[in-house]
Amino acid sequence: MGQNVTEKIVSTHLIDGEMTPGEEIAIQIDQTLWSDLTGIMAGQILETVGSDRVVADPSVIYCDHNTLATSMENADDHRYLKTIAQRYGLYFSKPGNGICHFLHCQRFARPGQTLLGADSHTPTSGALGMIAIGSGGLSVAKSMLGEGFRLKMPKVVEIRLLGRLASGVSAKDVALELLRIVTVKGGVGCILEFTGAGIDTLSVPQRATLANMSIEMGATTAVFPSDAVTRTFLQAQGRGEEWLALSADPDAVYAKTMAIDLTSLEPLAARPHMPDKVVKVRELGDVRPGSVFIGSCTNASFSDIASAAAILKGKTVHPDIDLTIAPGSRQVLEHLVASGILADIISANGRILESACGPCIGVGQVPSANGISVRTSNRNFQGRCGTMEAGVYLVSPETAAATAITGRMTDPRDVFDFSGWKRCEEPERYHVNDKMIIPPSATLSARDIQVLRGKNISSLPEKILVKDRLQAGIVLKLGDDVTTDDIIPAGADILKHIANIPRFAEFTFCYTDPGFVARARQMHHSVIIGGHNYGQGSSREHAALLPMFLGVEAVIAKSFARIHKENLMNYGILPLIFKDKNDYLLLQQGDVLIIDDVPASIDREEVTVWVKKSTTTITVLLEASIDDRAILQHGGAVPYLQRKLAQSA
Ligand code: F3S
Repeated sequence: MGQNVTEKIVSTHLIDGEMTPGEEIAIQIDQTLWSDLTGIMAGQILETVGSDRVVADPSVIYCDHNTLATSMENADDHRYLKTIAQRYGLYFSKPGNGICHFLHCQRFARPGQTLLGADSHTPTSGALGMIAIGSGGLSVAKSMLGEGFRLKMPKVVEIRLLGRLASGVSAKDVALELLRIVTVKGGVGCILEFTGAGIDTLSVPQRATLANMSIEMGATTAVFPSDAVTRTFLQAQGRGEEWLALSADPDAVYAKTMAIDLTSLEPLAARPHMPDKVVKVRELGDVRPGSVFIGSCTNASFSDIASAAAILKGKTVHPDIDLTIAPGSRQVLEHLVASGILADIISANGRILESACGPCIGVGQVPSANGISVRTSNRNFQGRCGTMEAGVYLVSPETAAATAITGRMTDPRDVFDFSGWKRCEEPERYHVNDKMIIPPSATLSARDIQVLRGKNISSLPEKILVKDRLQAGIVLKLGDDVTTDDIIPAGADILKHIANIPRFAEFTFCYTDPGFVARARQMHHSVIIGGHNYGQGSSREHAALLPMFLGVEAVIAKSFARIHKENLMNYGILPLIFKDKNDYLLLQQGDVLIIDDVPASIDREEVTVWVKKSTTTITVLLEASIDDRAILQHGGAVPYLQRKLAQSA
């Protein structure tokens, strides 16, 4: 039987298990990726576990989320990251060089390889025929140090693209159409593999838009074949020798096939506050935003911005709109300058931001109270933009540009004559300049490098192991689809404390429940109750670390998002699933729960929980691998790694 692209890559990296969907496997990881937010944690882990050099090559820290250094803490963090990278053998991409996923596609992603990234949008590199998976920092740290990555073999779902996009419609509209069909939960446990003649019409940056948003569907990742389009892109990046052909065998089998006719698609938008609340732009009615943002790791390629600029050219941004544009990388910015397109944007009154995440994560361009913002980014969760009461619409660059001109949500075909128009293309040869990527120092001299740790950077907290009976109160009961942004929100004012765990912890659930931190502290040991899909969204592992620091011992939910579940276990928190979903209704905030003999319970599939007030019990499931259970028995992955490295020394 033939193999699909996923099976071809997984089989060449398989170190344990069989490629049967749902079975646990371990794969060797070739490359790892970190952002500045998660890179701090990487440094803290590398220092705490006593490692010498990382094994995965390349491992790269990209300084892209919080780049502006609006406070001394931020500047200290950047300095720490740079010295950590040099000491332990990672590349360091300086602030302003670009967004991690975008840059990784440009400079490091290789067909046929595996990438594990401490950021949920790592699947973006699947555009180049990689298996690229986002995970929590501790899992990435383990792989960076040479351990395989364990996961349940996902089902491989074929997304067959047919036809060709009409003018004014772009890859973002395809991603939104997929979200409309499968919702934010529809891809859970799956790898989306793109096939069909339609993919021949999509450039690597367009494929990257689709791979990037697979995580919004809950998918483990997405992958494209490595074909002539991939080769053209790599050659244009001066990396032609890294290309290899990779495609599904003609008799490859998929768990399911979904066909999308590109020709029939129209410009779409996701309404607040979920990426799957998708409607046609023309059906939105009179929506009048205050700002428009074109950028993020989803839509900040040269062709994205050049296409938006073509619509803006010769026109003026509406007086009520603040239009900002952040190129995905400095390379894109250089091409916008060289081609004269930057001048078109500036003449139209667009504002250029640094090549960084920026508004996507609430670092700048925070909307006004009850404001509306239209963005080309990938998430519109409530509060992610920095204003709880604001509403964010997700759209394509073309729709964003049209909206910026008219001052209301606008289908680009209603303001721009697309007859005979061809979407702007990527440069034939990119201007390659890697001087803002600092390579790691040689091993011997690296040992003399002093890691510069600002006073804001605290040590990783240690979990106190529960050695016998756990008695804990329910500190918070939540509903479905709780995001990691709900657990620990972003925004420059909050993120500047990311390296200082006690200070950062003060913001845990700060918008959802301002009394959470005080209650958790008072309880000492506590439990959170969640609905379905608990912990969706960003890979932000502080969404597990901070509750652990505040004494949360377990989360009992109807279901978990994959990365957050991993993070919980890596920080020694039990991720428990209601066996009978109706038991969710029995539990209330303030109830006291008891689990007898925690170490023995960690080794069981089913755990009994006593509800103290009613002396009834409920049964919860602990779905974990042997490795995960070992990590939980150690109180988390840091003590687990410490012991492993000490044993191998
Ligand atoms: Fe950055 Fe937003 Fe992507 S925070 S990594 S641009 S999802």
